[in-house]
Amino acid sequence: MSSLQVADPQGTQPCRSVLYIPGSRERALEKARDLACDAIIFDLEDAVAPEEKTAARDLLARVLAGADYGPRLKLVRINGFDTEWGREDAAAMARAIASGAKIDAILVPKVSAPADLDAVAVLAPGVSLWAMMETCAGMLNAQAIAAHPMLRGMVMGTNDLAKELGSRFRADRLPMQAGLGLCLLAARAYGLTIVDGVYNAFRDEEGLRAECEQGRDMGFDGKTLIHPAQLAVANAAFAPSEAELDLARRQIAAFDEVTAAGGGVAVVDGRIVENLHIVTARALLDKAAAIGALALAG
Ligand code: COA
Ligand code: MG
Repeated sequence: MSSLQVADPQGTQPCRSVLYIPGSRERALEKARDLACDAIIFDLEDAVAPEEKTAARDLLARVLAGADYGPRLKLVRINGFDTEWGREDAAAMARAIASGAKIDAILVPKVSAPADLDAVAVLAPGVSLWAMMETCAGMLNAQAIAAHPMLRGMVMGTNDLAKELGSRFRADRLPMQAGLGLCLLAARAYGLTIVDGVYNAFRDEEGLRAECEQGRDMGFDGKTLIHPAQLAVANAAFAPSEAELDLARRQIAAFDEVTAAGGGVAVVDGRIVENLHIVTARALLDKAAAIGALALAG
């Protein structure tokens, strides 16, 4: 694995809230320009009915050629290459990007091996890719997938994963932990962004908050969402809190003071602070700054 990178957990692009928008719904596509989401997945796959696939592809290429979605990360989820639409989706998005459409990456569904990404890269050369991690084979091949030179991020597809596993919904997501953990390890080892799966009960704010907090505590950069009503909860859960920022500033100040006096370990609130904690503290401040900059620009 020659491309192993130093992990860059948060990167510079906030990805707290990643909203799926059906590529067939013109009204939703329009509305999304004013929504407080850090990233958008324009979907041609599961959110679009078979009879609407071709029209959605054309609509999306047209909308993305003209509309301004600001500094948000913009992904297009294409259909799989085992369907009749996948190859033309990839080719159409590559053409749209070549003619100036602002698409940051193609999101490839059901990636089970690096070869699935190679196939898309042939039709969309030079285009950044993201991978839906949602098959059992994909979990087992997470490292090889993460090592793909065009890959920039991973999205957990927990509904498909549950279907393949034959697992049941549990609020604690115990059946998901092995897969989530493997993908997190792979993403971090290769410096990729990684966002958690969706919470299906989109009116259940409390359940969503609990799942966001679990994903945040595990290390995810954000959560994929299906409805605008879920945005505020994800944005809050994945942003550094005021208390965390305050602690980070105090850790940096205390550590600076100790190192100026020739020491290497500070103590803040009864806990040791070493250089590695300072790296985390600075990353947290950078993340808050990036979130602030996105809000200003958006
Ligand atoms: N993105 C942008 N806008 C959305 C949206 C989305 N994902 N979901 C709903 N909206 C908009 C609606 O267009 C509506 O706007 P309007 O009132 O200005 O017309 C508003 O939010 C309220 O929508 P609401 O009536 O509450 O929901 P709905 O019945 O229109 O849609 C869903 C509910 C679940 C069908 C819809 O949210 C959806 O299709 N989500 C995406 C599903 C998806 O992408 N699945 C694949 C990944 S798991
Ligand atoms: Mg899926």
